[in-house]
Amino acid sequence: MASICHSKSHHCFYSIWLCSVALSLLPPLASSYLYSDDKRDGLFPEILRDEAVARLNELGKVSDADGYLERTFMSPAAVRAGKLLGEWMEDAGLRTWVDQMGNVHGRTEGMNMTSDALLIGSHLDTVVDAGMFDGSLGIISAISALKVLNSTGMLGKLKRPVEVIAFSDEEGVRFQSTFLGSGAVAGILPVTTLQTSDKSGVTVQDALKKHSIDIAEESLSLLKYDPSSVWGYIEVHIEQGPVLEYVGFPLGVVKGIAGQTRLKVTVRGSQGHAGTVPMSMRQDPMAAAAELIVVLESLCKHPKDYLFYDGDSDATTLESLSSSLVCTVGEISTWPGASNVIPGQVTFTVDIRAIDDKGRGDVLHELSNRMYQICERRSVSCIIERKHNANAVICNSELSSQLKSAAHAALKKMTGKAQHEVPVLMSGAGHDAMAMADLTKVGMLFVRCRGGISHSPAEHVLDDDVWAAGMAVLAFLETHIENLNCVFPIVSIANPSRG
Ligand code: GLV
Ligand code: MN
Ligand code: MN
Repeated sequence: MASICHSKSHHCFYSIWLCSVALSLLPPLASSYLYSDDKRDGLFPEILRDEAVARLNELGKVSDADGYLERTFMSPAAVRAGKLLGEWMEDAGLRTWVDQMGNVHGRTEGMNMTSDALLIGSHLDTVVDAGMFDGSLGIISAISALKVLNSTGMLGKLKRPVEVIAFSDEEGVRFQSTFLGSGAVAGILPVTTLQTSDKSGVTVQDALKKHSIDIAEESLSLLKYDPSSVWGYIEVHIEQGPVLEYVGFPLGVVKGIAGQTRLKVTVRGSQGHAGTVPMSMRQDPMAAAAELIVVLESLCKHPKDYLFYDGDSDATTLESLSSSLVCTVGEISTWPGASNVIPGQVTFTVDIRAIDDKGRGDVLHELSNRMYQICERRSVSCIIERKHNANAVICNSELSSQLKSAAHAALKKMTGKAQHEVPVLMSGAGHDAMAMADLTKVGMLFVRCRGGISHSPAEHVLDDDVWAAGMAVLAFLETHIENLNCVFPIVSIANPSRG
């Protein structure tokens, strides 16, 4: 798939992640966005801000660990979180169920139950030592907006069914393969996934069975939605990066999502005594792993020094890699793991992301070659396994412009002021929308977070930005309401006195 935001574009001169708004056009580092008096009609702060924030806090405490947030696929805390979300979906007037992959669904049929449905989702699982907004914000803002429609009697006036889905796994922490939840709904999970094991040898199938969910290989394909029954998928998510905060804007529209590859690298050497084996006689997998990790860092920092291309399209690939390629080793383990033992084995993960899929493939090829050469020189064995691969996704332009209008209208209504154009960004983080893009058109809205920090307990979203996210979903939903002309139209009627 072609690069969608390369550095030659005028709009992308500062950061590849900000596509449509030159940073110089917007005031940097606005400390807070000026929302208006929440007593005005049609802003629903008690549902879209106060209750939504209280629910995010409550969900943020549902953890398998003491002292930090951790919820992995079908863990006890994930199941508790799913129950809570189901209750909140019912409170919003939705009919709920849990599917055979542990996804929690809440649906309203609107005026025409045979019409194709709008799906809104995000994930309920977390990384280890997580923040409380990643995933949860998207689910809560959807539930809150639907609750507003329910409380104003408009839920039944929706032109089409609307379904919120809290996906059971996006982070892939437990089974090292992301999108177990959305992948099943999109129909892209291979049946072999059910037999994938976690570190304790528990398979995906066992993990579901433990919570009385029976799934056989034959039934996995039944979880896939019929594409003709789906109108589209939208997802609200924290940005997980610093751009919106920098430009001082609470919401942004996502143009596309970088592709990613995850590897598991196993290096085996000769286990031995730390005091007795001379340095010249060692086959040390730890020192080899260190060299492999440094070559990964160097290649990803300076792809131009490693990849040689000619021709215009190749130049574009290289430009795109230079600005978007990011590579990480986030997990490493050694066997047997003692200070006086030369390890016998070292295993580590590699996460590679780029907007240009061809470029990511080229990086992978070059990296594997170099890794095998290093292992050969050091007389250790290397196994490189690909655990996950997802191509870059371009969001649907029609959905993106509808989300942009919804965000714009919501902010205008909340501030009572004219607005800058809503920023358009690329996502370096993966999202359920990537899997759902195999099923239907997708669109995403980003919400500003403090310091761009995510996958950390320091992750933070302002209460008022949670409110803005809910207002934007509400404005989007209003465009799916039959003959909306009276109650609280956000999108269709501007307040002339406020400009
Ligand atoms: C999901 O959070 C990811 O790893 O991008
Ligand atoms: Mn995440
Ligand atoms: Mn996420």
